[in-house]
Amino acid sequence: MAYDMRNDLQETLVSKEEIDAIVARLGAEISRDYEGKNPILITVLKGAFIFMADLCRAITVPCTMDFMSVSSYGSGSTTSGTVRIRKDLDVDIKGQDVIIVEDILDSGVTLSNLIEMLQTRDPASMKLVTLFDKPDRRKADVTIDYCGMQVPDAFIVGYGLDYAEKYRNLPEVSILKPEVYTK
Ligand code: IMP
Ligand code: MG
Repeated sequence: MAYDMRNDLQETLVSKEEIDAIVARLGAEISRDYEGKNPILITVLKGAFIFMADLCRAITVPCTMDFMSVSSYGSGSTTSGTVRIRKDLDVDIKGQDVIIVEDILDSGVTLSNLIEMLQTRDPASMKLVTLFDKPDRRKADVTIDYCGMQVPDAFIVGYGLDYAEKYRNLPEVSILKPEVYTK
Protein backbone atom coordinates (compact mmCIF):
# COMPACT_ATOMS: atom_id res chain seq x y z
CA MET A 1 0.00 0.00 0.00
CA ALA A 2 1.19 3.52 -0.70
CA TYR A 3 2.81 5.34 2.21
CA ASP A 4 0.40 7.83 3.77
CA MET A 5 2.23 10.47 5.80
CA ARG A 6 -0.95 11.17 7.76
CA ASN A 7 -0.50 7.79 9.48
CA ASP A 8 2.46 9.38 11.27
CA LEU A 9 0.25 12.03 12.87
CA GLN A 10 -1.26 11.72 16.33
CA GLU A 11 -3.86 14.49 16.11
CA THR A 12 -4.55 17.79 14.39
CA LEU A 13 -3.57 20.69 16.62
CA VAL A 14 -4.44 23.66 14.40
CA SER A 15 -6.76 23.38 11.40
CA LYS A 16 -6.20 25.22 8.13
CA GLU A 17 -9.18 27.47 9.00
CA GLU A 18 -7.66 28.34 12.38
CA ILE A 19 -4.30 29.08 10.77
CA ASP A 20 -6.00 31.35 8.23
CA ALA A 21 -7.70 33.29 11.03
CA ILE A 22 -4.44 33.67 12.96
CA VAL A 23 -2.55 34.86 9.87
CA ALA A 24 -5.32 37.37 9.06
CA ARG A 25 -5.16 38.76 12.61
CA LEU A 26 -1.36 39.07 12.54
CA GLY A 27 -1.49 40.73 9.13
CA ALA A 28 -4.03 43.25 10.37
CA GLU A 29 -1.98 44.05 13.51
CA ILE A 30 1.18 44.57 11.46
CA SER A 31 -0.62 46.64 8.81
CA ARG A 32 -2.02 48.92 11.54
CA ASP A 33 1.34 49.32 13.32
CA TYR A 34 3.32 49.98 10.12
CA GLU A 35 0.93 52.47 8.55
CA GLY A 36 2.99 54.85 6.39
CA LYS A 37 6.08 52.64 6.56
CA ASN A 38 7.71 50.14 4.22
CA PRO A 39 8.86 47.26 6.42
CA ILE A 40 11.11 44.47 5.23
CA LEU A 41 10.00 40.96 6.13
CA ILE A 42 12.91 38.67 6.85
CA THR A 43 12.28 34.96 6.91
CA VAL A 44 14.51 32.36 8.40
CA LEU A 45 14.37 29.38 6.07
CA LYS A 46 13.00 26.93 5.70
CA GLY A 47 10.19 26.40 8.19
CA ALA A 48 8.60 29.84 7.90
CA PHE A 49 8.34 29.99 4.11
CA ILE A 50 4.68 29.02 3.98
CA PHE A 51 3.74 31.33 6.85
CA MET A 52 5.64 34.14 5.10
CA ALA A 53 3.79 33.52 1.84
CA ASP A 54 0.41 33.85 3.56
CA LEU A 55 1.38 36.61 6.00
CA CYS A 56 2.78 38.95 3.34
CA ARG A 57 -0.56 38.79 1.52
CA ALA A 58 -2.40 39.66 4.73
CA ILE A 59 -0.26 42.80 5.12
CA THR A 60 -1.69 45.83 3.35
CA VAL A 61 1.22 48.28 3.64
CA PRO A 62 3.94 48.10 0.98
CA CYS A 63 6.69 45.76 2.09
CA THR A 64 9.74 43.99 0.75
CA MET A 65 11.04 40.54 1.59
CA ASP A 66 14.33 38.79 2.02
CA PHE A 67 15.40 35.34 3.15
CA MET A 68 18.20 33.91 5.18
CA SER A 69 19.32 30.58 6.47
CA VAL A 70 21.27 30.09 9.68
CA SER A 71 22.39 27.41 12.09
CA SER A 72 23.58 27.71 15.66
CA TYR A 73 26.84 26.35 16.85
CA GLY A 74 26.23 23.49 19.30
CA SER A 75 24.05 24.79 22.08
CA GLY A 76 25.53 22.63 24.85
CA SER A 77 29.25 23.04 24.32
CA THR A 78 29.33 26.59 22.96
CA THR A 79 27.64 29.61 24.45
CA SER A 80 29.49 32.12 22.33
CA GLY A 81 26.26 33.37 20.81
CA THR A 82 27.55 32.86 17.33
CA VAL A 83 25.23 32.30 14.41
CA ARG A 84 26.54 30.48 11.37
CA ILE A 85 25.06 32.04 8.26
CA ARG A 86 24.31 29.55 5.52
CA LYS A 87 22.58 32.10 3.31
CA ASP A 88 22.81 35.79 4.14
CA LEU A 89 20.36 38.53 3.22
CA ASP A 90 20.67 40.03 -0.25
CA VAL A 91 19.95 43.54 0.97
CA ASP A 92 21.40 45.94 3.51
CA ILE A 93 18.92 46.45 6.38
CA LYS A 94 20.59 49.62 7.68
CA GLY A 95 17.88 52.17 8.44
CA GLN A 96 15.08 49.74 7.55
CA ASP A 97 12.10 48.63 9.63
CA VAL A 98 12.75 44.92 9.95
CA ILE A 99 10.15 42.30 10.82
CA ILE A 100 11.58 38.84 11.42
CA VAL A 101 9.10 36.15 10.44
CA GLU A 102 9.53 32.86 12.33
CA ASP A 103 7.57 29.64 12.26
CA ILE A 104 8.02 28.54 15.85
CA LEU A 105 9.96 29.81 18.82
CA ASP A 106 11.26 26.94 20.89
CA SER A 107 14.42 27.40 22.99
CA GLY A 108 14.88 30.76 21.28
CA VAL A 109 18.65 30.26 21.19
CA THR A 110 19.07 30.53 17.42
CA LEU A 111 16.79 33.51 17.15
CA SER A 112 18.28 35.48 20.03
CA ASN A 113 21.70 35.06 18.42
CA LEU A 114 20.34 36.07 15.05
CA ILE A 115 18.61 39.17 16.44
CA GLU A 116 21.82 40.22 18.15
CA MET A 117 23.74 39.80 14.90
CA LEU A 118 21.16 41.71 12.83
CA GLN A 119 21.12 44.58 15.36
CA THR A 120 24.78 45.24 14.53
CA ARG A 121 23.64 46.09 10.99
CA ASP A 122 21.83 49.12 12.34
CA PRO A 123 18.18 48.71 11.29
CA ALA A 124 15.77 51.55 12.17
CA SER A 125 13.67 49.03 14.11
CA MET A 126 13.37 45.29 14.48
CA LYS A 127 10.35 43.27 15.54
CA LEU A 128 9.53 39.60 15.67
CA VAL A 129 6.43 37.79 14.47
CA THR A 130 6.16 34.09 15.20
CA LEU A 131 3.31 31.83 14.20
CA PHE A 132 3.82 29.49 17.14
CA ASP A 133 5.39 29.87 20.56
CA LYS A 134 6.43 26.96 22.79
CA PRO A 135 7.06 28.92 26.00
CA ASP A 136 7.77 25.84 28.16
CA ARG A 137 11.06 25.24 26.37
CA ARG A 138 12.47 28.76 26.31
CA LYS A 139 16.16 29.06 27.22
CA ALA A 140 17.03 32.44 25.71
CA ASP A 141 15.24 35.69 26.36
CA VAL A 142 13.42 36.73 23.17
CA THR A 143 10.70 39.36 22.93
CA ILE A 144 7.83 38.33 20.69
CA ASP A 145 6.05 41.36 19.23
CA TYR A 146 3.38 39.42 17.36
CA CYS A 147 2.45 35.90 18.39
CA GLY A 148 0.09 33.63 16.47
CA MET A 149 -0.58 31.01 19.09
CA GLN A 150 1.04 29.28 22.04
CA VAL A 151 1.46 25.54 21.62
CA PRO A 152 2.18 22.78 24.13
CA ASP A 153 5.55 21.08 24.38
CA ALA A 154 4.93 18.52 21.63
CA PHE A 155 6.62 18.06 18.29
CA ILE A 156 4.40 19.54 15.60
CA VAL A 157 4.57 19.34 11.82
CA GLY A 158 2.80 20.78 8.81
CA TYR A 159 2.30 24.26 7.31
CA GLY A 160 6.05 24.51 6.73
CA LEU A 161 7.15 22.75 9.91
CA ASP A 162 9.08 19.55 9.30
CA TYR A 163 10.50 16.49 10.89
CA ALA A 164 13.54 15.31 8.91
CA GLU A 165 12.38 17.59 6.04
CA LYS A 166 9.05 15.83 5.78
CA TYR A 167 5.45 16.95 6.39
CA ARG A 168 6.04 20.61 5.40
CA ASN A 169 3.36 20.36 2.72
CA LEU A 170 0.51 19.39 5.06
CA PRO A 171 -1.95 22.31 5.09
CA GLU A 172 -2.76 21.98 8.82
CA VAL A 173 -0.54 21.57 11.88
CA SER A 174 -0.49 18.23 13.69
CA ILE A 175 1.28 16.55 16.56
CA LEU A 176 3.68 13.93 15.27
CA LYS A 177 3.41 10.47 16.82
CA PRO A 178 6.37 10.14 19.20
CA GLU A 179 7.28 6.73 17.75
CA VAL A 180 8.11 8.46 14.45
CA TYR A 181 11.05 10.32 15.99
CA THR A 182 12.02 7.88 18.72
CA LYS A 183 12.36 4.75 16.59
P1 IMP B 1 15.10 27.29 18.77
O1 IMP B 1 14.04 28.28 19.17
O2 IMP B 1 16.43 27.90 18.54
O3 IMP B 1 15.17 26.13 19.73
O4 IMP B 1 14.72 26.62 17.39
C1 IMP B 1 13.52 26.87 16.77
C2 IMP B 1 13.49 26.08 15.49
O5 IMP B 1 13.41 24.68 15.78
C3 IMP B 1 12.25 26.40 14.68
O6 IMP B 1 12.47 27.46 13.79
C4 IMP B 1 11.99 25.08 13.99
O7 IMP B 1 12.76 25.01 12.81
C5 IMP B 1 12.49 24.05 14.95
N1 IMP B 1 11.38 23.52 15.78
C6 IMP B 1 11.16 23.71 17.10
N2 IMP B 1 10.08 23.07 17.54
C7 IMP B 1 9.57 22.45 16.45
C8 IMP B 1 8.41 21.60 16.24
O8 IMP B 1 7.61 21.28 17.14
N3 IMP B 1 8.24 21.15 14.97
C9 IMP B 1 9.09 21.45 13.94
N4 IMP B 1 10.16 22.24 14.09
C10 IMP B 1 10.41 22.72 15.33
MG1 MG C 1 12.94 27.47 11.71
